[in-house]
Amino acid sequence: MKNTVSTLLKQKQSGEKITMLTAYDYTTARIMDECGVNSILVGDSLGMVMLGYENTLPVTMEDMIHHTRAVARGANNAFIVADMPFMSYQASVREAVLNAGRLIKEGGANAVKLEGGAEVCEQIRAIVNASIPVVAHLGLTPQSVNVFGGFKVQGKSADKAKKLIDDALMIQEAGACAVTLEGIPAKLAEIITAKLFIPTIGIGAGNGCDGQVLVYQDMLGLTVGHTPKFAKRFADIGELMRKGITDYISEVKNGTFPSEEHTYSIDEDVINEIVKEYE
Ligand code: KIV
Repeated sequence: MKNTVSTLLKQKQSGEKITMLTAYDYTTARIMDECGVNSILVGDSLGMVMLGYENTLPVTMEDMIHHTRAVARGANNAFIVADMPFMSYQASVREAVLNAGRLIKEGGANAVKLEGGAEVCEQIRAIVNASIPVVAHLGLTPQSVNVFGGFKVQGKSADKAKKLIDDALMIQEAGACAVTLEGIPAKLAEIITAKLFIPTIGIGAGNGCDGQVLVYQDMLGLTVGHTPKFAKRFADIGELMRKGITDYISEVKNGTFPSEEHTYSIDEDVINEIVKEYE
């Protein structure tokens, strides 16, 4: 069954947790869809985990459309959310609507996600008016890394926590269909979740959210270097890949691959005829 804005809302109402994972390509999206994940986020984290940038800021609309299209071809049932990259929605409401439209029309996404609270409510309202569902993103919003001075937990002081609650209420009022809460204290995420009728999807925001999202490289052991505290490793695919690749290298070098089993045969008479002709 296709996951939609209404099925996600029903999950919040019935208390059934929402599962979301990032994906950036056809094969991964297909596997996740077969496993029954509710939603796939084509995150602008692709800048870091797929393209090797230091942060998400260099990601372009073209990058996002390219990867969203691949995910959309692989996922039939998951609700596909595509991130609006840095500077694709901040400068003007008109640009925000046009770029959101591209992610739906050209990318095949079901919804777009953008970062920020009060300051992006006009954009949210206009995109929703264009019949495009919007997922908001509050807390440790990675596109603000230069303002935060690094990837740091947000909302720890009373002022900052109150601003996050106010922002959450404002983005809901502007028409957002869900909100990602990233890198905030669990108790604050619980308060926000209880105040909103739209679902909250947490990442580094504790167990009290309506759902959870993780970057798939983090949860499958594919991340190189530091992984955040909240990123539980559910499998070590990186180690499996390393073993497979080193086994391949040694079998090619020592001549045991390809063996008979991986080789095509030809009739002896045909070979004899060819050999005779070319002698
Ligand atoms: O880009 C991304 O992957 C995200 C998640 C971390 C929520 O925005």
